[in-house]
Amino acid sequence: MSLRLPESRTSKDALWTELLTRGDSDVAWRDGRTWAYVYDPGPDAEELSKRAFVRFLDVNALDPTAFPSALRLENEVVSMAAQHVNAPPGAVGSFTSGGTESIILAVKAARDAWRASRSDRTHARPNLVLPETAHAAFHKAAHYLDCDVKNVPVDPATYRAVPALIEDAIDDHTCLAVGSAPQYPHGVIDPIEALAAIASARNVRFHVDGCVGGFMLPFWKRLGADIPAFDFTIPGVTSMSIDLHKYGFAPKGASVILHRSAALREHQLYACSTWAGYTIVNNTVQSTRSAGPMAAAWATLRYLGSEGYLELARRMMDATARVRAGLLAIPGLAIMGDPDMNMLAFTTTDGTSVFHIADEMKERGWTVQPQLSYGPHRANIHLSVNATAPELVDPMLAALAESTVAARTLPSGHLAAAVVSLLGGKPSLDDALFMQLMSFAGVKAGADGPTLPSRMAGINEALDALPPKAREALLVKFANLLYST
Ligand SMILES: Cc1ncc(COP(=O)(O)O)c(C=O)c1O
Repeated sequence: MSLRLPESRTSKDALWTELLTRGDSDVAWRDGRTWAYVYDPGPDAEELSKRAFVRFLDVNALDPTAFPSALRLENEVVSMAAQHVNAPPGAVGSFTSGGTESIILAVKAARDAWRASRSDRTHARPNLVLPETAHAAFHKAAHYLDCDVKNVPVDPATYRAVPALIEDAIDDHTCLAVGSAPQYPHGVIDPIEALAAIASARNVRFHVDGCVGGFMLPFWKRLGADIPAFDFTIPGVTSMSIDLHKYGFAPKGASVILHRSAALREHQLYACSTWAGYTIVNNTVQSTRSAGPMAAAWATLRYLGSEGYLELARRMMDATARVRAGLLAIPGLAIMGDPDMNMLAFTTTDGTSVFHIADEMKERGWTVQPQLSYGPHRANIHLSVNATAPELVDPMLAALAESTVAARTLPSGHLAAAVVSLLGGKPSLDDALFMQLMSFAGVKAGADGPTLPSRMAGINEALDALPPKAREALLVKFANLLYST
């Protein structure tokens, strides 16, 4: 705990100077060398969205009768998104803080509608039927909302959901089935048409997670890409999540949840009158909500228009084609599946540790995102190909080729073997054992929390060697240290 509230005021200049240096150790995303986390429309759109954000920062969407400007912004953003994905007349939606909140709300609407339809409503426990590539946000939603998860294997070669397996998993307790367009891990689109038909035949709601692609895929299609149907043109699709802070290129804090009809949304909403204060009726998880993100998204969508998004899509599409060709030419690397958009994952074919490759890329100034293995799916590196840096494709591929060669010579597996043997057979992870593991892994404790070693391969390999539940237990303990106050 290093900072206390100061007794006296601090000058604006001093604070601003300090804030400006605060990002110095963040990944340097503006230079285009960060190939995950970043959705950059370029400086022009960024400048406008920031002005719009600040203009509405203080407007509170908690009470749309007091702040009709927020209501109008929300309705207009939802309307633009809904029409973009062919939502029928009568479709409705809400503006949320991000994909996770949109997904939590889709699950809440489905869960409560399912419960309301049953006579044993208070005791019955609903489930979600998910391809195992569906985003972790669905697991989080199930955890928060007390639903079970049926995590269904995907095709091990294409990474797409398998309709017959989803069909087998749906039962009388299923409140929601899910497909992604595309899924994050490998960037492929699930067979939405077949999945939605199966769910609909069983009278189960079907959600399309378009957090990544809902906004961008229509432009990809207009540019001639072979994109299967994925939106409300498919009758069984009951809801969709679309992140505007991803490929809508709006600043962070912007997503929408759409429902085919107001009746389907009803259980998403929450009202409370059993307390002594003002009456609550909320359409989202948040109550007090800044209208800043809504205004920023509203401004970005209108400023760019289809013309601007098509241009961004074209750049991403061209760069992605070059990245794919370049990856295929690097001996020992293979793309996983056949990605449909600009996100992809690659792995090694000769056993070289992808975690060393990620470290070697970092040494050369590039940030890429390692993903752990899961079930039959190998550990890999995720790349999101950005729109702003086509000239960086060749240097990135050159760095990757060098990193792959360098990684091949590095030793692997020592820490993983030690961690597995330390943890082996222990029923739970107590604090003493956890601290022992941290020191083994080279994590240094400090007054302001732990510091990770600059090379993460050993730690990633150790996590990769553990079963998912043990990984989760370790990560929770680590995060509990990291947020040090
Ligand atoms: C397909 C998909 N769904 C949901 C999410 C969760 O979105 P957020 O991080 O905005 O909560 C993500 C995030 O990457 C995603 O890729």
